[in-house]
Amino acid sequence: MSRLSSTYICQSCGAQTRQFFGRCSNCGDWNSIVEQVTSASKNRLKNKNPNHPKGNATKRSESIESLKENSLSRLTSGYSEFDRVLGGGIVPGSLVLVGGDPGIGKSTLLLQSATAIALNESVLYVSAEESAQQVRLRWKRLTESKSRLQLLAETDLELILQELESLKPSVAIIDSIQALHDDNLSGAPGSVGQVRECSSALQRLAKQQNTALFIVGHVTKEGMIAGPKVLEHLVDVVLTFEGDRHANHRLLRAVKNRYGATHELGIFEMQGSGLTEVKNPSEIFLNKKPSAGVATIVACEGNRSLAVDLQALISATTFASPRRTATGVETNRLHQILAVLEKHMGLPLSRHDCYLAVAGGLEVEEPAADLGIAAAIVSSYRDLILPKRTVLIGELGLGGQLRAVGQMPQRLLEAERLGFQRAVFPEGSGLDKTKMAIKMELLEASNINDALILALGNI
Ligand code: TYD
Ligand code: MG
Repeated sequence: MSRLSSTYICQSCGAQTRQFFGRCSNCGDWNSIVEQVTSASKNRLKNKNPNHPKGNATKRSESIESLKENSLSRLTSGYSEFDRVLGGGIVPGSLVLVGGDPGIGKSTLLLQSATAIALNESVLYVSAEESAQQVRLRWKRLTESKSRLQLLAETDLELILQELESLKPSVAIIDSIQALHDDNLSGAPGSVGQVRECSSALQRLAKQQNTALFIVGHVTKEGMIAGPKVLEHLVDVVLTFEGDRHANHRLLRAVKNRYGATHELGIFEMQGSGLTEVKNPSEIFLNKKPSAGVATIVACEGNRSLAVDLQALISATTFASPRRTATGVETNRLHQILAVLEKHMGLPLSRHDCYLAVAGGLEVEEPAADLGIAAAIVSSYRDLILPKRTVLIGELGLGGQLRAVGQMPQRLLEAERLGFQRAVFPEGSGLDKTKMAIKMELLEASNINDALILALGNI
């Protein structure tokens, strides 16, 4: 009889130790270490693999050229926005993690897409959170198509693997990984050990039989995909589905993609009959009626970039010390920008109240928003409207100089994709304009004065 061995896994960072500690030596979290019995699962996984060579000396490698032709012809997800974010469609045998806040529409997106794919391919939808009847109700509401979608409402990993093995579908969807459990492991569903073991077992089988696997993952309060970081390393593509739950627009982005670029953005709209693609996104993001005090920036969060409207209101103060409020931007940053504008442009802002807000309740922390904030303030103070379809990107130094910011090509590509036609940004941003296929007018400035003259005309 084989001896069971224990490993201790940190639920916060996924670090493994042989011994129990009250505090994880890797991430420093207290009480996050949980015991896990490991040998049983390892044996099971080894026995499962029928292709294990066991002394069989046949050749197992293949020519890279033939591999490319045989297995990399992509499938369409039924939505061009989805395909584009994936890098041109679904790669057979790929593992895609779809993360997002609860209720944002992950299940809706994948169910609609699964139904569309199932018109031509075999698709298995595994619902671990909702019953088969609930999924069917939603499916009926979303679509009328006669698709051959197979549905399995199950949380037991072993049964899901059996079903995948017997059906051998082209595409399978697991909704969600945090609801699955492997009986050989001691942790509760959603714990680091369970999430990791379930995903690697699913990945092994999916790669073996060339099934493209979509895994839904929940997002923690901090905005990370719940579970160990190794999950993101394990998969080929990490997509995030986001948006304001009170608004209708949803953004699908690739944070990691082994088969395509990561700066692609897919835009959907949630309606009563499910998600529809937004073919002309610039109409949503551009102000239909431009007004004084509004400036557009392109913000980046990690690998993601997003065009955002900033709104400022400047009015003469009636208080002894003027009021400054900022929503979505750090108040200290606003104080600093107001001081720079006062000192280097001679605006008497210390006798004015200033209110600043970021559209859609978004938080913009990065300094690349400085130029946009300054432009919004000057635009409101002077009652001048910024020209339509112009973005402003750049960090503002204390001496009024503009500093280059990172990810400029990505920001400009995003702005162009959203329909913007002019961009004002710092000189020396290191852009190779000949290499970048950008049609936008690119206006470079070295200080705040020049930038605002370029953006607003004669101020
Ligand atoms: P869902 O796909 O269940 O979210 P997730 O799987 O990410 O948790 O989406 C749930 C929300 O979407 C719910 O609040 C209602 C809304 N919704 C619509 O507005 N229209 C629809 O047709 C559907 C199916 C959902
Ligand atoms: Mg769901």
